[in-house]
Amino acid sequence: MRTIAIFNHKGGVGKTTTVSTMADILAIDYGKRVLVIDADPQGNLSMFYGVEPDEGNSTLDLFMGTHEPVYSDWISSARTDAPVDIIPSDTALVQAEAAALKEDARFNRHAMSDLFRAIREDADAPDADNRQSAYDYVLIDCSPAFSQVSLAALRDADDIIVPITTDLFSTMGMATVLKQIMRARKDGLNSVAGVLVNKYQRVEDPNGLLTYLRNQKAVPTFETVIRKSKKVVSAGADGVPLIKFSPRCAAARDYRAFVAEYMAKKGDRNGKA
Ligand SMILES: Nc1ncnc2c1ncn2[C@@H]1O[C@H](COP(=O)(O)OP(=O)(O)OP(=O)(O)O)[C@@H](O)[C@H]1O
Ligand SMILES: [Mg+2]
Repeated sequence: MRTIAIFNHKGGVGKTTTVSTMADILAIDYGKRVLVIDADPQGNLSMFYGVEPDEGNSTLDLFMGTHEPVYSDWISSARTDAPVDIIPSDTALVQAEAAALKEDARFNRHAMSDLFRAIREDADAPDADNRQSAYDYVLIDCSPAFSQVSLAALRDADDIIVPITTDLFSTMGMATVLKQIMRARKDGLNSVAGVLVNKYQRVEDPNGLLTYLRNQKAVPTFETVIRKSKKVVSAGADGVPLIKFSPRCAAARDYRAFVAEYMAKKGDRNGKA
């Protein structure tokens, strides 16, 4: 199982789009078992997958220790056209943030790693019923903030993917993102799988920021860039996986190439992660 946090403190760069599209490609094209975690009180990922948190099944419950660590209680199946499971969120997740700031003992800073351990233990259990709950990939959609929940995801995930757009402010913000990741992780920037350029339009990159990103040595930038495509907005509004909504659009093709690049980088030759 590989766990991946998708993070940038800049808003609107495509974190949620990357989580859902990557999850859908892994599940639909590769038959991987995928869990997504909505770690953003905006709840955009949950809206996309059409899942509202019920009492007891949300990321808030995960962090506030509402349950014994029986992770299957938290997990809902997303809509049927994408075989992806989800731990949903809504605005109530801000309560976790408030609790963390008040140093309320109920806030479990290790909720993510506890969950990952529980999933791994369950997958290893000899009981056949439990085995089907093993996941190949867990993708975490972070909020555009250095929240305590984001920090927990950044600290505990195996990999971090940083979506970015090639406008000047977004690129300037990258140094801050990397600094925060350094603070959150013991292994510094080693876990950054890569910076993923999104909404790319050659004509809109007059400052050559793509070249800058590729030349800087602090963190890798994925070879694949995701081109800007109106279909992404429409697929998101309809709650349909992009690869089903418009399989041939530039962004769908780019996301498929990106997932292939990511898997090759991580040595997943379509076997178990
Ligand atoms: N490649 C793309 N082409 C065109 N539009 C895109 C692309 N990627 C994302 N978008 C659109 O940009 C908007 C923001 O994307 P998204 O919600 O994924 O960003 P985010 O980083 O998760 O935002 P937030 O920081 O608010 O959580 C959405 O309307 C989405 O449909
Ligand atoms: Mg988002």
